[in-house]
Amino acid sequence: MLSMKRIIVVFCLLFASVYSDQDPFYLGSTLYAPYMTSPTEPLYSLVMQREFNIAVAENEMKFSGVHGGGQTIYDFSRADAIATLAMQNGMKMRGHTLVWHHAIPSWLSQGNYTSVQLAQILVGHITTVIQHYSQKYPGLILAWDVVNEAYNVEQGYLNEQAALIAAGKDPTDPANIKSPRTIWSKIGQFDAAGNPISTWDPLRDYVRLAFRTARAADPNVKLFYNDYSNEGISTGSTGNYNFVKGLVGEGVPIDGVGMQYHLLLNKPTDVNNYSQSTLLSNLQRYAALGLDIHITELDVRIPTSDATGFIPTTPDLLAAQTQVFANVAATCAQTPACKALLCWGFTYAHSWIPASFAFFGAATPFDQNYVPTPGYLALQKGLLLRKKCCF
Ligand code: XIL
Repeated sequence: MLSMKRIIVVFCLLFASVYSDQDPFYLGSTLYAPYMTSPTEPLYSLVMQREFNIAVAENEMKFSGVHGGGQTIYDFSRADAIATLAMQNGMKMRGHTLVWHHAIPSWLSQGNYTSVQLAQILVGHITTVIQHYSQKYPGLILAWDVVNEAYNVEQGYLNEQAALIAAGKDPTDPANIKSPRTIWSKIGQFDAAGNPISTWDPLRDYVRLAFRTARAADPNVKLFYNDYSNEGISTGSTGNYNFVKGLVGEGVPIDGVGMQYHLLLNKPTDVNNYSQSTLLSNLQRYAALGLDIHITELDVRIPTSDATGFIPTTPDLLAAQTQVFANVAATCAQTPACKALLCWGFTYAHSWIPASFAFFGAATPFDQNYVPTPGYLALQKGLLLRKKCCF
């Protein structure tokens, strides 16, 4: 017969393995250092510390954030202020982002660099930034968004090209091109002698180089591909999935996929676009590739009656948003591969939405006074499913 003591020991071991520190769940937000240390906004830091165990820099770790001054000039001061605060508060960080079509400084966009020079710049940037963090803050960065939005940007370019041709317009005229390729797409186009390379792949060549460089720079940090419009099942999200699947299949060192989740409710019935079944199907197909999943930039914007984005136009929008937060949390919680969920800002007061989408806002789990919204409660409740699922 098992003694009561033994039963308790076995139970504790089981409990410890389910909740072991080996594989914790990360809940987080963007962290902006000046607000975190501001005496006029004590609630910012209080909520960050109370609620989150992971942080991400909204802009400071991007290319222009650390490498804006010139090819050999790096300035980590603003990014490191965030890293230091995260470390002091016992948080991990997601590194965001090494290769993106935005946040490109003018020395780079106007430098007229060749294919080969661009590849050198990319390799130098990735290596320097990753190693800066692995050496100065060992273990702080859980994962790097090595490449951001590559698939969607190339797809946007190709779609526009097709539309221009269909309309009888010149697809090569810069005046007609509103969705250009990323500067990085030139990598692999010409060799060192300036001869065209026949196998050039404007989407995959730079992505492959970026991930291989990142792996060489730090073999331990997780390497993520991050993109948008991949929260459910659609033509776009399937294209995104096939793109990642192809790279993984050819051995490109990708450990995980980041799903931005900048969600939009124009009207309450748009909640149907984010049903648990469609969200879950997409998460599960990535999980089946053996990848980790992070929901990296969650916000759910709704129309507001004020430009500051504090007042939803109708209460039923907030109710629909609450349901969306619940669905997102529940699907992540029920997918073991989904190991982190980060909000892109946590308070209405400091969200990128009103500045980027006029008369939209109220997109975060805390309002402008740092009061939890119904969406916050839905998030918390949904995430509890993770614990229930394992017993
Ligand atoms: C946004 C920031 O929130 C803004 O402050 C900045 O002006 C532009 O970039 N997808 C991403 C993020 O991967 O880096 C973007 O962040 C939002 C969309």
